[in-house]
Amino acid sequence: MFDKAIKNPVTQAVLERQTIREYLPQMLTDEQMDTVMAAAMMAPSGRNSQPCHVRFIKNADMLKEMQIDFKNIVGWETPVHTYWYKNPFYHNAPVFAVIFAEGNSQMDAGIMVENICIAAKGIDLGTCIVASVGALFEDKTQGAKWRKAIDIPEDYKFMIGVAIGVPDETPEQKPRDESHYKVIE
Ligand SMILES: Cc1cc2nc3c(=O)[nH]c(=O)nc-3n(C[C@H](O)[C@H](O)[C@H](O)COP(=O)(O)O)c2cc1C
Repeated sequence: MFDKAIKNPVTQAVLERQTIREYLPQMLTDEQMDTVMAAAMMAPSGRNSQPCHVRFIKNADMLKEMQIDFKNIVGWETPVHTYWYKNPFYHNAPVFAVIFAEGNSQMDAGIMVENICIAAKGIDLGTCIVASVGALFEDKTQGAKWRKAIDIPEDYKFMIGVAIGVPDETPEQKPRDESHYKVIE
C-alpha cells in the first residue's frame, strides 16, 4: 500500500509506529524523558493557546494504586476493553503520561499524543495511547483524589493517556483500509 512513500527517519517513525502493550521494566533515561517531553511541548495548538497540561507519571506504586481504583470504577469483570484480561490500563509501562486540557481541546491533545508517539518511536521506544483511564479521572470521588495527587485542577478535562517504555514485543502491524484514501483529480 502506498509503496512509493519516501523513507527517511521521520516518515519511518510514522509508518512503522504501532501500539506496544508489553514493556521491559527499565525506566526511561533522562535523555529519553526529555525527548518525549519536548515532543509534547512542541506540539502545535490552535492559536498557540497551549491548553494541554501533561503529567508524566514514573511512580510505579502510584500507577498500581490507580489501577485498583480504576478497576473498582469500571468493574473487575467488565469486558469493555480487550486487553483488561491481562494488562492494567498502563500496560506495565515505566512511564504513563496523562494529558488534560483547559476546555474541550481534544484536537490539540490528539496532536500532542501523536507527537509523543512518533518521537518515542524515533528513539526506539514503544507507546500505547490509552483512553480508558478517563473513567478514573472523570469519576467524582476518585477523580478528585487522583487529580490532587498529580497536581491537576478539577476543572481541567481528561483528554488522553499514553504508556511509554522500551518495547518487549514486536507485534504485526494492524491492517488499514486503503479505500478510505482517495486522490481527486
Ligand atoms: C484515541 C485512542 C484511544 C485508545 N485507547 C486505548 C486503550 O484505552 N487501551 C489500549 O490498550 N489501547 C488503546 N488504543 C490503541 C488502539 O487500540 C490502537 O492504536 C489500534 O488498535 C491500532 O493499532 P496500532 O496503534 O498498532 O496501529 C487507543 C488508540 C487511540 C488512537
